[in-house]
Amino acid sequence: MKFKLNGGLNSSSLHGSIRVPGDKSISHRSIMLASLAEGTSHVSGFLEGEDSLNTVRAFRAMGVNIDGPADGKVTIQGVGMAGLNAPAQSLDLGNSGTSMRLLAGLLAGQKFDVELRGDASLSGRPMKRVTDPLSAMGARIETAEGGTPPLKIAGNQTLKAISYQMPVASAQVKSCCLLAGLYARGKTCVTEPAVTRDHTERMLKAFGCDVEVSGATACVTGPAKLVATDIDVPADISSAAFFMVGASIAEKADVELLHVGINPTRTGVIEILKLMGADIALTNQREVGGEPVADIRVKNTRLKGIHVPEDLVPLAIDEFPILFIAAACAEGQTVVTGAEELRVKESDRIQVMADGLQALGVDARATDDGMVIQGGEIGEGTVSSHGDHRIAMSFAMAALRASGDIHIEDCKNVNTSFPGFAELAASCGLPIQIIDY
Ligand code: S3P
Repeated sequence: MKFKLNGGLNSSSLHGSIRVPGDKSISHRSIMLASLAEGTSHVSGFLEGEDSLNTVRAFRAMGVNIDGPADGKVTIQGVGMAGLNAPAQSLDLGNSGTSMRLLAGLLAGQKFDVELRGDASLSGRPMKRVTDPLSAMGARIETAEGGTPPLKIAGNQTLKAISYQMPVASAQVKSCCLLAGLYARGKTCVTEPAVTRDHTERMLKAFGCDVEVSGATACVTGPAKLVATDIDVPADISSAAFFMVGASIAEKADVELLHVGINPTRTGVIEILKLMGADIALTNQREVGGEPVADIRVKNTRLKGIHVPEDLVPLAIDEFPILFIAAACAEGQTVVTGAEELRVKESDRIQVMADGLQALGVDARATDDGMVIQGGEIGEGTVSSHGDHRIAMSFAMAALRASGDIHIEDCKNVNTSFPGFAELAASCGLPIQIIDY
C-alpha cells in the first residue's frame, strides 16, 4: 500500500472535530490484565489496530475467551493468574514490540513453554533489555544470536523478586519486570533513569493490585491477584499528534481532537509544540478510569525552531517522526539530542526520517542521538516509510506544506496503530489517496 499526497495546492488545510482511535499502550494492557483477572472485564474505546489485535490473538491462543472487538468494545472472561494454557503454536506478535516485551514478563512465570516471534522489523529489535532482568529473576529465555526474537521461554521456573535499576528509559522494560513480579514471591522493584509512561502502574491499581510508586521506583508484591474491572480507553495522543502538527503547519487550519489521553507521562508532544509556539488549548479535562483525558484544539500558527529539552524526550518518544516534520516547517533550526532510542523503534527513525526529509529537499542531518533540522520549504518527491506506521503518517502530513506531490511507499503498517488514518485525514482536508499494489 502506498499513499499519494497532492501537494502544491496552497489551499490544503485541516478542519474538523474528530476522535482518533484508542490508545495503543492502554489497549494492549487492558487485554493482558483482564485476561489474568478473576471475573469478566469490559473494555470500550479499544484500538482495533493490528498491534493490539495481535495481543488479543495471543491470549485467545492461550485459552482466554475474548468477545470482540466490535465498535471498540471487548469483553474478556478472565482466567486468573494461573489460568492460561499452553498455546498450540508459537505466538506471532507481528510488528508489536509492546506485545512481545510485556508478554515476555508475563509468560516467564507460567507453567508452560512458549515461543514469541514477530515480523521482519520486530525480529531485528533488541530483547536483551527484557531478558537480562528476567534472567536475574530466575526466568529461562533463549533469544536468537544478538539478543533478538524469537524468544523461547521455558515454563515451570520459580521467579524471585528483584530490585532492578533500568539502564534505558523504557516503559516496556518497566512493565515487563512488573508483570513478571506479579508471579515472583516478594517485592519486585524497578527504578527508571527518566520518567516513562505509567499506564501499567495505573491499570494494575484499577485491577486491584497494590503498586507502590515512590519517585522513579515502582514495586509490586507477588504472588498477586487481579480482579476484573471495566476500562474506557481514551484516544491515543500519539495518533492525535499527527493532527496537532498538521493543524499547526497548515494555513488557516483549526482542528479539535476529542477525548484524548493526556497522561502527564505522554504529553511531551504538547509541551514541545508549545515551546515551538504552537496554538494548542486543552478543554474539558476530566479523568476516565484512572487516566486523564481532554479535548484538544489546535490552530495554525507560525512555529519556531528550538533545542528540544532532553527531559521531554521519553515523554514524546513516539512523536519524533511528526515533530521532525514540524521542525522542517518551523523558522530556524531545531536540534534533538538524547533520543538514541529512536534508532531501535519499528525502524531506525533517525535515519529513515533524515533520508525522507532530504529526499523532499529539507536540510536535515542525522546525528547519533537525534537530528539537526533547518526549517524551510518542503519540496516534492518519493519517500519510503520502511514499513514504519509513524513515518508514513508523518510524511503524509508534510504534504500540507509541500510544493508538489509526495509519494510514500510501504504504508500497510499504518494499520498497526491507526486503522482508517487516510480516510479520517481526508475527511479533514488532507489531499491523500491510497494506492493498493
Ligand atoms: C510503549 C513504550 C514505548 C513506546 C511504544 C509503546 C508501551 O517503548 O515507544 O510505542 O506501551 O509501553 P519503549 O519502552 O521501548 O520506550
